[in-house]
Amino acid sequence: MSPESRRAFLKRLKYLWAPVILGSGTAYGYGSLVERHRIVVERHNLKLSLGPKAPRQIRAVALSDFHYDPLHEAEYVEECVRQTNALQPDVIFLTGDYITDYNDRMEELAELLGKLNAPGGVFACLGNHDYRDNANVVARALRKNNIDLLTNQHTRVHGRGGELIVAGLESVWGGLPNWSRAATGIKEDERAIVLMHEPDYATTVCRDPRASFQISGHTHGGQICLPGLGALRRPLWGKLYEAGFFDLRKMKLYVSRGLGTIHVHMRLFCPPEIACFDLMNRDRSV
Ligand SMILES: [Fe+2]
Repeated sequence: MSPESRRAFLKRLKYLWAPVILGSGTAYGYGSLVERHRIVVERHNLKLSLGPKAPRQIRAVALSDFHYDPLHEAEYVEECVRQTNALQPDVIFLTGDYITDYNDRMEELAELLGKLNAPGGVFACLGNHDYRDNANVVARALRKNNIDLLTNQHTRVHGRGGELIVAGLESVWGGLPNWSRAATGIKEDERAIVLMHEPDYATTVCRDPRASFQISGHTHGGQICLPGLGALRRPLWGKLYEAGFFDLRKMKLYVSRGLGTIHVHMRLFCPPEIACFDLMNRDRSV
């Protein structure tokens, strides 16, 4: 490049900075003040095997990745709870990352989540961030507020004329998941819904046909996405499955975009979500 054309190029570049800075500022303002709280209720009708004893139809709502600290946005969580209860779910699932780094206000969050209302109950697993301070504090707060935290175990939920099996695994990044232990007691012809924070662990869970549906969070759907390019960053154990539905052998996986944010508190082309599933049981005709 000759000195003249280099000078001309730099001169043109000088005039580009203004729109770039202005555009970035606008995107940040929109992403942090508007899109970050623009909850989208994603509704899905899904036919899958839930086992011969499970209800014929059930409504489940899944919430994920609150990341209550450092912003402690109680009103936002209240709104998430209000919108969830308005869907009148039979069961509610929470798939981890209640905190980011510190659990000193976990009690406050758990009390807000304790207002979630479903006749079948509220079931949860932990996320990788929940182990960063003291996972026992997070676990205690959830359980104190009637949230059934499942750590490598399963439970049977009675209602809607059947028995639904829900299993929860520890985080693979923060804890030690053990599917064999969680599935002990589940018969060959029975099927379980699995709560597991990190979606990529589905490659292990799907090897067992008793796992029919894994619900995960962790990726935040990318949190900041660009049209045509997708997520700018994918976390460890969230590199294979970013958001939405995936089929792995006979198991379905759903990855929620979650409700909170980390690092940069903005969302772009990736609004927070409440996932509402109307599940139809293939194994029951009447
Ligand atoms: Fe998260």
